[in-house]
Amino acid sequence: MEKKRSTFTGKVGFVLAAAGSAVGLGNIWRFPYLAAKYGGGIFLLVYILLAVTFGFSLMVAEIALGRKTRLSAIGAFSSLSRRFSFLGYLASAVPVIILPYYCVIGGWVMKYLAGFVTGSSAAMAGDAYFNTYIGGTWEPVGWFLLFMGITAVIVLLGVEKGIEKVSKFMMPVLIVLILGIAVYTICTMDGALDGVVYYLRPDFSKFSVMTVVAAMGQMFYSMSLSMGIMITFGSYMKRDIRVEKSAKQIELFDTGVAFLAGLMIIPAVFAFSGGDEAALGQGPGLMFVTLPKIFASMPAGGIIGAAFFLMVLFAALTSAISLMETIVSIFLDKLAMTRKAACLLVFGICTALGLLSCLGYSVWSGVRIIGMQILDLFDFLSNSVCMPLVAFATCLFVGYVIKPQTLIAEIEKSGPFREKRLFCVMVKYVAPVFTLLILLSSVLDVLGIVKI
Ligand code: TRP
Repeated sequence: MEKKRSTFTGKVGFVLAAAGSAVGLGNIWRFPYLAAKYGGGIFLLVYILLAVTFGFSLMVAEIALGRKTRLSAIGAFSSLSRRFSFLGYLASAVPVIILPYYCVIGGWVMKYLAGFVTGSSAAMAGDAYFNTYIGGTWEPVGWFLLFMGITAVIVLLGVEKGIEKVSKFMMPVLIVLILGIAVYTICTMDGALDGVVYYLRPDFSKFSVMTVVAAMGQMFYSMSLSMGIMITFGSYMKRDIRVEKSAKQIELFDTGVAFLAGLMIIPAVFAFSGGDEAALGQGPGLMFVTLPKIFASMPAGGIIGAAFFLMVLFAALTSAISLMETIVSIFLDKLAMTRKAACLLVFGICTALGLLSCLGYSVWSGVRIIGMQILDLFDFLSNSVCMPLVAFATCLFVGYVIKPQTLIAEIEKSGPFREKRLFCVMVKYVAPVFTLLILLSSVLDVLGIVKI
């Protein structure tokens, strides 16, 4: 079934490729709005603690699983234990839930880019602009289809290398821009410093189980964990590259970009709203409401805004391509079909699911499923239900079926594994208990059975 695997060349090649796939809308759009909503500093603290313990162990486990078996998720689990083949399928279902709504957000980014290019930056800074826009029917659908269409064409033609090259150049520029915007806001706007304090100082009275639920879901999403992606990446990794070191570098990079994005957006929310809690709880629209206001207040804001959204678009495109590529390759592996047919099929499925998310803000804006908008529901299903479930089962699989020693032996092929103890304790005891609790509490919470 599997052909001979190509491998990443060079030591940085692996880390750059994995980090490139990990950094996307999750860091720039999703992290800041969650941090704003779930208490600022306390969210950041919980996120970092989770990343260095749990996220690290899971990332190491996934990369090692891939490198050991040289197979993608479905093959990797079933080759080690038949009983666990379901886990490969479950992990692979996650990208199918994520990609459609990822493309809807990608469409928002394109719309804003077009707005800045055509000089409507003043209009976009208006309070109601974003809600009016997503409340429209055809326009958001059009941008969504365009974004997904571009992604599909790139995957179909197999020209993602070109996009990746551009994006490798754009990524550092994006980081510099984010930093510049953050510094500009903090130094020039009244009230922005309160936002910095809110973002950096943990306020323990804002802690709740939902902080952990949200932080953990975000960690899975942002680091592309629990969805088979890192297993696939691991399967392309050469044996002389250190798994542990690479995992740390990917995490550091991913968390760094997310941290900076929060620093760019949260102080600005304070500056424009006077620290009003309602503004902090905006949700998915936060970046699209706040950023145009900053750009409108800046000299040459129109050009900076256009440059910014162009780079976010590239970051989003590389992630969308890698998501779609994952789904297409599963179909190619499992069903006898041509690449073209697989792309079309994925395009069809994603159009249907994406339309639901997109129209959930207009035609079906009254629809609430377990209290959520449609896009939020997909987001919740993937990040707070499927991924903790996959993470839980992966830990049981590694901890008790194949045993941590199997992966440790794989990791030690390329050098000493320093955090071996942490890894064992995490996958055997802490992570399974934790993920199960998280899963239960998030589900019970939305069902309204327990209020946490
Ligand atoms: N991690 C990506 C981000 O932060 C999103 C993402 C989720 C992703 N799953 C993925 C990207 C799979 C590539 C492949 O935006």
